[in-house]
Amino acid sequence: MKTKLIEQFNTVYGRTDGLTYFSPARVNLIGEHIDYNGGYVFPCALSFGTYGIIGTRQDNIVHVYSKGFSKTFYTFKLDELVKDKNSAWVDYIKGVLYVLSETHHDIATGFDLYIEGNMPEGAGLSSSASLEALLLVMLNDLFSLDLSTKELAMLGKAVENSFIGVNSGMMDQFAVLAGKKNYGILLNTATLDFEYMPLFFGNYQLLVINSHKKRGLTDSKYNERYQECQEALHILKPLYHKPDLCSLTLAELKASKNQLTDILYRRVRHCITEQARTIKSSIALKNHDIKGFAEILTASHQSLKNDYEVTGDELDILVSETLKAGAIGARMTGAGFGGCIISIIKKDQLNRIIDRVKKQYTDKVGYEPSFYAVHPSDGTHQI
Ligand code: GLA
Repeated sequence: MKTKLIEQFNTVYGRTDGLTYFSPARVNLIGEHIDYNGGYVFPCALSFGTYGIIGTRQDNIVHVYSKGFSKTFYTFKLDELVKDKNSAWVDYIKGVLYVLSETHHDIATGFDLYIEGNMPEGAGLSSSASLEALLLVMLNDLFSLDLSTKELAMLGKAVENSFIGVNSGMMDQFAVLAGKKNYGILLNTATLDFEYMPLFFGNYQLLVINSHKKRGLTDSKYNERYQECQEALHILKPLYHKPDLCSLTLAELKASKNQLTDILYRRVRHCITEQARTIKSSIALKNHDIKGFAEILTASHQSLKNDYEVTGDELDILVSETLKAGAIGARMTGAGFGGCIISIIKKDQLNRIIDRVKKQYTDKVGYEPSFYAVHPSDGTHQI
């Protein structure tokens, strides 16, 4: 891949002196919608993602070229970081430069950048975090910014929060940056302490299934959930003096039922129970209890469906058909409202289950899902 990237760099920019990088996609195993509520999350990086090659320039101009997105140059000046709805993917590049400038990290010159991805777009596997992390690591190296993985993850989150306008947590950026082959990352989003947990599923395979449901309203619905959680915290904080929703107990929530609307009550219940499930699932994995782990995944989906209401018909059908076909656990992953589910499937039943799910889902929804047998991989790095 390195040679191919250098060749492309030469074709597009007439130079071969770039540094080459890879930045993965991510999938979250469990701990959904609680990274902005102080909870534990359990994602891993994947083996597909975004490749890039970069070289500095003498002036203050940034040239970007993406094989996948535009097949044409996009040019802007370092001090002209204006969002462009016609080239939304470039906003992530501008966003990285914006947060670096806001935090006084000096990017002294412009650069030529070529990127090329091999991950499914719009599938909710964090193509945006993959791109943000790619550029953050490139610029950290090129301009000797000396930023740690945690600092880079927080900057990636800041791109989403203050430039793109999504109130996301830092799970995606952290997973992409800190990923490790064969390991998941059990991350405490309140402290950013984390533990690598081996993901050896034995006779089972982690299968990601793309619903291909368009995630059109994702950002606005996502921000709506964020606001609901803020509102609930505003009511509950003075009562229990807990810093975030995931620190509350179910007993405390039940005792304050009268203070909350039904919707807010269910949102908080999801946060508290998802936090418990995430911790419990990591213990099950430690004990090599794959079935126990998989059952907790399914319970997480039910909570995201009934209490947090971020699934939708397509994801619900996909989970239920995958379970009916023989998966031992399945749940939506990521922001929801479309995108992918994950499932745990016996390796020797993989083909049979894929055939069956493909048929049942297509009959019910009208278009085919896609299947990716994925493997936990390393985080963003130079190649
Ligand atoms: C998106 C966000 C993450 C996280 C998930 C839901 O992927 O970017 O920060 O909140 O949704 O768990």
